[in-house]
Amino acid sequence: MLGKIAGMWWSRKTADQPDADKLIKSLDHGRLPKHVAIIMDGNGRWAGKRRLPRAFGHRAGVESLREIVKVCTELKIGVLTVYAFSTENWKRPQDEVDALMKLLVEYVNKELDELCAKGVRVNPVGRLEDLPANALAALEVAREKSRDNSCLVLNIGLNYGGRTEIVDAVQAIAVKVKAGEISAEDINEKLINDNLYTAGLPDPDLLIRPAGDFRLSNFLLWQLAYTEFWLTPVLWPDFGRVHFLQALLDFQQRERRFGGLKDS
Ligand code: FPP
Repeated sequence: MLGKIAGMWWSRKTADQPDADKLIKSLDHGRLPKHVAIIMDGNGRWAGKRRLPRAFGHRAGVESLREIVKVCTELKIGVLTVYAFSTENWKRPQDEVDALMKLLVEYVNKELDELCAKGVRVNPVGRLEDLPANALAALEVAREKSRDNSCLVLNIGLNYGGRTEIVDAVQAIAVKVKAGEISAEDINEKLINDNLYTAGLPDPDLLIRPAGDFRLSNFLLWQLAYTEFWLTPVLWPDFGRVHFLQALLDFQQRERRFGGLKDS
């Protein structure tokens, strides 16, 4: 029965494909974002609507992630950062936390070969040391095995918090100041960038938030300073290739000024 529900839902999503082909043709492939960030929200509501346990929503959310990673590799987007588990998500019921960690291990173990075949570099970001040992081990294998892949960097936010990331960066810098390696005057935006989990990567050009909320939820607080937002009421498990392409097309209509004037 549950398999049947999942099958019906998946075939509805993939039926969008002809629209996707049309949208791909409308894209300006020379002006795609180099980095897309996604807050994968709405899994719980998706499951609730179907009177299913919340874990089913997360499982369906993994399918959306799989599809969006695929589109990003096809379009050569460069960097995709997804918010999978926040520093605040530990407050959820233990069975939901356990289900999420189990899904993570399953995703990494099951998908790693496919991700590597597509040229994806798996880069978990967050305070990873607090994750369960088996999750940490699976992530380290994935990081190591995929380290030389260059088609797409997949940052997976795990025990990730934007404020915690800034605290970690400030602490790392303070240690260098204390050791006399640098002075306080050497602290600038570049140094802070270089000490974030996303060091070396461009800031996101586009942030996608499904499921209707209008907030950042402690995601990439530093990096999103000039990012374009694309919000949709569609719940993450229902989010597919067509929505992603719509977001890209909308992004291409935006005029980005980065605080300057048009044409300046
Ligand atoms: C927010 O939706 C989503 C999460 C806290 C988890 C996101 C995780 C996945 C999509 C799958 C796991 C990822 C990997 C990499 C295996 P919510 O549960 O808060 O939804 P709600 O607001 O409708 O309750």
